[in-house]
Amino acid sequence: MFNCDYLEGAHPEILKRLSETNMVQTPGYGVDSYCDHARELIRKQVGDDKAYVQFLVGGTQTNMTVLAYLMRHHEGVIAADTGHIAVHETGSVEATGHKVLTIANSEGKITAKQVDDYVNAHNADEMKQHMVKPKVVFIGYATEEGTLYSKRELMDLYDVCKKHDLYLYVDGARMGYGLTSEKSDLTMKDIYDYSDVFYIGGTKVGALFGEAIVFKSTTPHDDFRYLMKQKGGLMAKGRLLGIQFETLFDGEGEDCLYYQISAHANRLAMKFKKRVKELGIELYQDSFTNQQFPIFTDELLEKLSKDYSFNYWCRVDDTHSAVRVCTSWATLEENVDRLLADIEKYM
Ligand SMILES: Cc1ncc(COP(=O)(O)O)c(C=O)c1O
Repeated sequence: MFNCDYLEGAHPEILKRLSETNMVQTPGYGVDSYCDHARELIRKQVGDDKAYVQFLVGGTQTNMTVLAYLMRHHEGVIAADTGHIAVHETGSVEATGHKVLTIANSEGKITAKQVDDYVNAHNADEMKQHMVKPKVVFIGYATEEGTLYSKRELMDLYDVCKKHDLYLYVDGARMGYGLTSEKSDLTMKDIYDYSDVFYIGGTKVGALFGEAIVFKSTTPHDDFRYLMKQKGGLMAKGRLLGIQFETLFDGEGEDCLYYQISAHANRLAMKFKKRVKELGIELYQDSFTNQQFPIFTDELLEKLSKDYSFNYWCRVDDTHSAVRVCTSWATLEENVDRLLADIEKYM
């Protein structure tokens, strides 16, 4: 199965640590020493010992809780029309009373100019008080299409957000795969410096579950835990999240499990990409991360589907479809090799 990056349980190191610490007694709700240590390790990653870190279980819950926290009643969040909150979260942000204000994506991304134009148009509209006021910009790193913002693009987005008094929020469900991509010119510290809040995805990068939310020290965060609780996210056995993030970030700089296992997935994704291109197969998106989007003929897809599964992405023309092929921390190279050999055989 190559559908996604959460097909297996957890990295063995994480299971080992969960097992080793199983009988240790701790207070509940994420105020235990494992969570505190994980917070310390994450603060080291972003280079600010005042960064505010909390843990939640899943991505939708994180997006919905953080965004509801950042906005007042009449405010909304700008996102690409391909943004996860716009298409794949069952309207969970809207269900908190905040509209998702979509703008057209290009390669899964939006630009500072688009945000500037959008807010300027809003401000110039004499009926603006009859409309939802933009307050947050949502982007993914990596994006839902596997693409990456450059440091320049992120800095420009951050600047335009500051110009208009908006928050920049980065969904890092796949941050590891983004940061370890050969095309990335960012570090986690850069993401911290040039955003207001972001989260580090654990669920898709080796954890059994869990996302670490990082508020820049200057971003308001008082009472965030009240909202976590109200949204059902304050986990009683919160230590399980701390132990996992401790294991993922135990090390110096990028010398820790989180980056090592992400780099593994990217290496296999790049091997896949290179070979399918050599075989003359086009890609729907030029991704340099663990999600790849080959365009298969109907005939090839039907043959491959007997032994493999992918996420169907979109119809490209009368005889071709794009599918998502994901590698992950858990992918075995021999399985990628087998898939590549079968693609070649069936072509
Ligand atoms: C970019 C991104 N954000 C958020 C989510 C939501 O995560 P979850 O399924 O844990 O709610 C996903 C899940 O696929 C995702 O790809």
